[in-house]
Amino acid sequence: NSGMLLHVLGMPRSILEGLEKYGEESGRILVYEPEKIKGVVVSGMGGSFISGLFLYDLLSDRASKPILLNRDAKLPSFVDKNYLLVTVSYSGNTEETLRVYLEGYRRGTPIVAITSGGEMAAVSDRLGVPLLRLPPNVPPRAAFPYITAALASILEIITGVSVLEELRQAAEDLEKSLEASLGEGVAVARLLRDDVKSGLTPLVYGYSPYLSPAYRFKTQMNENAKVHAFFGELPEANHNEIMGWGGPLGRFTVSIIRGREEPEYMRARIEFLEGVLKKNGVPLYNLYGEGGSRASELLSLVFKVDVASVVLALLLGIDPTPVGTITELKGYLE
Ligand code: F6R
Repeated sequence: NSGMLLHVLGMPRSILEGLEKYGEESGRILVYEPEKIKGVVVSGMGGSFISGLFLYDLLSDRASKPILLNRDAKLPSFVDKNYLLVTVSYSGNTEETLRVYLEGYRRGTPIVAITSGGEMAAVSDRLGVPLLRLPPNVPPRAAFPYITAALASILEIITGVSVLEELRQAAEDLEKSLEASLGEGVAVARLLRDDVKSGLTPLVYGYSPYLSPAYRFKTQMNENAKVHAFFGELPEANHNEIMGWGGPLGRFTVSIIRGREEPEYMRARIEFLEGVLKKNGVPLYNLYGEGGSRASELLSLVFKVDVASVVLALLLGIDPTPVGTITELKGYLE
């Protein structure tokens, strides 16, 4: 049952390995001229989506070009041959992502595929579409370090932001703080286990630029611990969701994913929310990132929430690895 935990514990090593491999490879396979590309569209689902959000958090406010995230089976109409389309599918067989890939190809949009194989690799070989190959036999959501490194190596070339070095430093920082971060993840898992057992549903709040670890926490609790968990975005949630507290339905346990770059206006909003939660007897856990850079904070947060979700599964007596209903869905769609 501990396979997933080993993947999580290997996160810093896998990031470094991925950076080494893809950093070099991307320069070689990317046949498109960066100056001619207006923006990047990153398309993927589930475990193959999250790295896009992670890198969006990390660099979108510094990038010279827009980065768009697509989690759909279709492509926005403005995406033409002046954009770069990066399609991410670990298996290479996810229908939504394959549809986007083919639609992009039809429009003449330059494409880079990130996959371990499947249909996407086969079609790319046939059409001569550049491809970064992910290592085999990894559950898609555990391929996060490799997908992140591969995608970062492309975004660095297109946007001119030196993310590879930032990620390398972040992975080294994470290695140093691994034990403490592991301990924190386990502690949160214990609290959540008690909450879930007493009938509370996890709800995770995040805000920019730390949305990816917050969303990751929700999806990892879903897939690893097989529990319902929901995600909300601040400050928006304070303008609607906040009305549910004290209402007749819903019993939640709340985690807020936080970082150093918390502007005053955000702090005030979180303080207010904390007050409302307290008044209504809602358990609240604040999770902070470690390290002196945004990359280090983001990576340590993803590590902590991954640990928390896997350990939550184990404490609940659930095998974190299989995702039976998602597999069933894919079979149904074939
Ligand atoms: C399973 C997982 C899922 C998949 C999703 C898309 O570990 O994380 O969320 O990532 O079903 O499949 P792929 O990644 O193969 O395109």
